Parts: sequence; structure tokens; C-alpha cells
Amino acid sequence: MCGIVGYIGHNRDIRIGLEALKRLEYRGYDSSGVAFYNKETKQIDSMRAVGKIVNLEEKMGGLDLKGSPVLFHSRWATHGNVTEENAHPHQDCKGNVFVVHNGIIENYQQLKDKLIKEGHTFTSQTDTEVIPHLIEKFFEGNLEEATRKALALVKGAYALGIIARDDPNKLVLAKYSAPLLIGIGENNEYLAASDPSAIITHTKNVVYLEDGELAILTSIPGGFSIEDYSRNPVKRAPRETEWNVEDAKKDGYAHFMLKEIMEQPKSIKDALRGRIVLEDGSVKLGGLEDIKEKLKEVERVQVLACGTASFMGKVGEYMFEEYAGLSSKGDIGSEFRYKKPVIDKKTLTVVISQSGETADTLAAVKEAKRKGSPTIGIINTMGSSIAREVEQGIYTHAGPEIAVASTKASTAQLAVLALLSLYLGRQRDLSLVMGQRMGKELLRLPELIKKVLERASDIEGIARKYENIKNLWVMGRKYNYPAALEGALKIKETAYIHAEGIAGGELKHGALALIDEDFPTIAIVPSDSVYEKMVSNIQEIKARKGPVIAIATEGNEDIKSTVDDVIYIPKTLEMLTPILSIIPLQLFAYYLGVLKGNDVDKPRNLAKSVTVE
Ligand code: F6R
Repeated sequence: MCGIVGYIGHNRDIRIGLEALKRLEYRGYDSSGVAFYNKETKQIDSMRAVGKIVNLEEKMGGLDLKGSPVLFHSRWATHGNVTEENAHPHQDCKGNVFVVHNGIIENYQQLKDKLIKEGHTFTSQTDTEVIPHLIEKFFEGNLEEATRKALALVKGAYALGIIARDDPNKLVLAKYSAPLLIGIGENNEYLAASDPSAIITHTKNVVYLEDGELAILTSIPGGFSIEDYSRNPVKRAPRETEWNVEDAKKDGYAHFMLKEIMEQPKSIKDALRGRIVLEDGSVKLGGLEDIKEKLKEVERVQVLACGTASFMGKVGEYMFEEYAGLSSKGDIGSEFRYKKPVIDKKTLTVVISQSGETADTLAAVKEAKRKGSPTIGIINTMGSSIAREVEQGIYTHAGPEIAVASTKASTAQLAVLALLSLYLGRQRDLSLVMGQRMGKELLRLPELIKKVLERASDIEGIARKYENIKNLWVMGRKYNYPAALEGALKIKETAYIHAEGIAGGELKHGALALIDEDFPTIAIVPSDSVYEKMVSNIQEIKARKGPVIAIATEGNEDIKSTVDDVIYIPKTLEMLTPILSIIPLQLFAYYLGVLKGNDVDKPRNLAKSVTVE
């Protein structure tokens, strides 16, 4: 999704912003651009390029590019094709105001028609371009004044960075429903970014803007101020981001996706750290202290998320029902926001998001709050919009996830869902003994995951064998049905192969018609309460000559005679098996994608953080 980087401070090489912009490449983009105030010519210079950021870098090439303030942007097309004209920054008619924008301006067509009638000339097909022209209309020498007046006419979502030649010592920011933060550098330098990972090499001190706020950055001591659109000053102290530079490097792995898969013993350990109290068979979740009593009254759970996070939420449904005895239901954010959900203060809403910025999930949680439902977020990104929207939160602590396809963040979500079901269960009928068993088994997970990861080269071998497949089922039951949905999504994303997740019991209701010798199935078949049922489903496939790869429990030698290939996972509690079964699926998807020559870290057409509807 689009990325914003801004800088104001000394008149130094503007490539400082380029490095930061490159850190946002993982979010997905199709073109990029820069605008900066050139102190010698007293003009704003601007450059844009289609494709990778290196193309912009080449354009900037040998030029002596010093300036301040500076705006960089990476665009992920929503309105208008991927062209240089549509790339940001966009400018007004006079070359005075330059704007970068993340989000969507919903009423841009009406605004554009009106501005054209008033004599403005547009050069792009974007919704964004209305903003510099609106600011131009109101500009009388003060950039924030004109911005404030312009935004009063705008409907939609935006994170904006704005500079003006005729008010050159300012970088103005504005935010509504799209993330934006200020980084406090040294010696009166300030940065702006849509994602903290862009600027962590420069500063860890950040201030997040809230909706309806405008920030004015200047390069003087204490040089930033925040105010709402009615000019009321907002005081907000900087906070330290928990992410560090090492987290954002590949550490010798060929891809971030592989690095992040391999990091799972650590990310699970971090998600569990200090949270399990074995003597009480319970968990300590600091974020829930304030609503402890309210949670005792809850009778149902509503889980909300999108994509992979929604599949993790579906595993959560099974956990909450089995261990907390709470009726539970998952919805995807984009559907929930347009339904007429029947929820109330007795329904706990659990929202799951890696980025904490997914627009549909954010809208869904707002709707749940409006209905009086208490809300808990399972979020990876501290200070993100969803983390700030929910009543209470449990951070997953998986560290930054750079590859577009989610891996370590999603298994950390499962670990936290298990903790939450244990917490809610112990508030109800879950026994001390069962609580202790769950706690112990959770603590074993990092070691068990290491064992799965040791099989990476076997999994690569299996991926080679199936490299040319065109279609694939991933089949599971109970806890591993959502794991199958997730495995299929990973394979679609990284290998661009048509794959579908299916519940074993549904096979006979239609899907079996597709099976023949060219249509393989990955069957998740751990030795659990639905093992026999899954074996029957495998037999049904084998009887129709369909190849089967089984993900089975170590020690199950029998399965070998039934299927074509086996990937073993260690034994654990049934509720935790998805954490182990998803990992071979991640590796299978990764290796298939690499074998096909795909850009696995940045799959085509996808973005890391989906901040538009
Ligand atoms: C798939 C994937 C997406 C995200 C979804 C929600 O690998 O990463 O399906 O899970 O876009 O994103 P977050 O968790 O950031 O809300």
C-alpha cells in the first residue's frame, strides 16, 4: 500500500528520505516520487518514476540534491493507471503546493469538476490531485491555514504530507483514517512516515497523529505542533517504538518470507513471554486487567479480521467454544461492516490484525463498539489505528513482518488466541489441571516449531515434485480446517497456483468431482479427535487416483502406506496443532513460489497493509 516519508531539518542530501522509503517497499507499490524545496533556486523540485524505487533513484542520479523540507511517496494505484503522471507528489497549477497522499478521497470527482470550472488544470487521473488544487484555492501565504480550509471540503481517508514554495520552512501533515506519525530526530530534525519501520534507523521517538489532526513541522527547537481542525492545540508526548533496525534486515536469508518463517520459535516465545502462570493454570494479560470483571459477564465472542488473520480468528472460534464454553463466531471485516450485526455488551469482540491498519477491520471494530460490545485487539503493531481503537489489547510481539504474506505474525496470533481462551476459560469452568496442561504445552511450542523447521529441505523436495501443478486442495477438519484455508491462501499468494482450503466433511458434497491424478490434496491429518474421519476422506481421494501429501503426527507410520508423501509434525494438544501444521504449509508455499521464479516477498497485485476499503 502507499508509503509516505517526509523530512525537515538541515539542508542535507535528500537521499535520507530515499532510504526510509525503501524500507516501505515491502508494503507493495507500483511507482514513486519525491518533491523538495531547493534553497538555491527557491523552487520545489520534483521527480517521479514508474516501477521500482531504484528507477526513481536513477532519475535522482548524479544531481546534487540538497533540500528541506522533503516529501517522498510510493504509490499503489487505486485511481488511475500506473503512470508517471499519476505518481505522487501532485502539485497545484502554480508549482507552489506539493502533496503526497495515502488513502482515498471519496468526493474527488465533485471537487475536481468544480475546480476545473474555476480554472484549475489537472494533469493526472488520481483522486489525490484535488488536494493541492484545493490548497491553492485557499493559499494566502500560510500553508496550514489553507490546508485546514481545503480539508473541510474533503470526504474520505487520508494521510497527507504537504509542502509549499511560498511558505517553505514547514512540512504540514494531516490524518484521517490512514496512519501517519512524526519521528523526532536529533538537532531539530523531524521525520514523517506512514509506518514506523521507515524511520527506525533515524529515531525511535515517535508521535502518532490521530484522526482530524494537523501537524506543523519546522526545523527549530521544539519545532512541531499538533492541532485539531478547529485549531485547538493537542499535546502528545513522543513514545518509543519497540521495533529495531535488526528486525528489518534479511540476516542472510534469501527472502524476508523465509527469514520470518524461520523466526517462529522466537516470535512464539515472545508472544508467550511472561504471560503463563503455571501454578494457577492461568495467564496474566496486563492489557485485560481493567476489563477483568466485564469479561466475566460475557456470553459470546465475535471475532473480526481479514484474510490470514480471519483464518486465525476461526481457529480462535474453536478454542473459545471448547475451552471457555463461549458461543463464538468469526466474521471478515468487509462483510461485518455492512451487515446488521446482532451483538451487545454481552458479546466480546476480538479483533485480530498484524498491521493494525486494515481499513475493513478498523471499520468493523468501530461498528462493534457502537453496539456496546467490549473490544479486545490482538495486534502486532504498537500504536496502530486498531490498537488505539480497541478498548483493551494484547500485543502479539512478533516483531515487524516485512514479507507481504503473513507467517510469523499469524502463528503469534494463534498463540495469543490460545492464551485468551485459557484466560476466559479459567474465569469460567476450565479446570486447574487442564489450564496447567495448556500452559505447559504452550511453553513447549518453540522447541516443537524448531523440529518442524528442521524438515525445511524435505518440504522443498516435495515442492519440487509438485512444481507444475495447476490446482490443489488443502484439507483439514476442526482446528485444522482454518489451517487448510490459510495454507491455500499462502499457496495462492506466493506460488500463484489455484488452491482452495476445504473441510474434510465437505469433500463428498461437491469438491470430490474435481479429483483426478493431476489434482493433488494436502491433507492435515494429525493424530487427534478427527483422525479417523480424515483418513476416510483421504481414502475417498486415493480411490479417485488423487495424489495426497499428508501432514501427520510423528510416529504415525501407518499413514505412509495410504498417501504419496508425508510431512511430520510433533505431537501436541489438539488445539495447538494448527500452529505446527501451518508452518509446513508456509514452507511449501514459499518453495513453490521460489521455484516458479516469483517475487515471494512482494507477490504481484498485493500490498502488505490494506488501508483502503
Ligand atoms: C495474507 C495476509 C493478509 C492479511 C490481511 C489482514 O498472507 O497477510 O491476508 O492477513 O490483509 O491484514 P492485517 O493482519 O494487517 O489486518
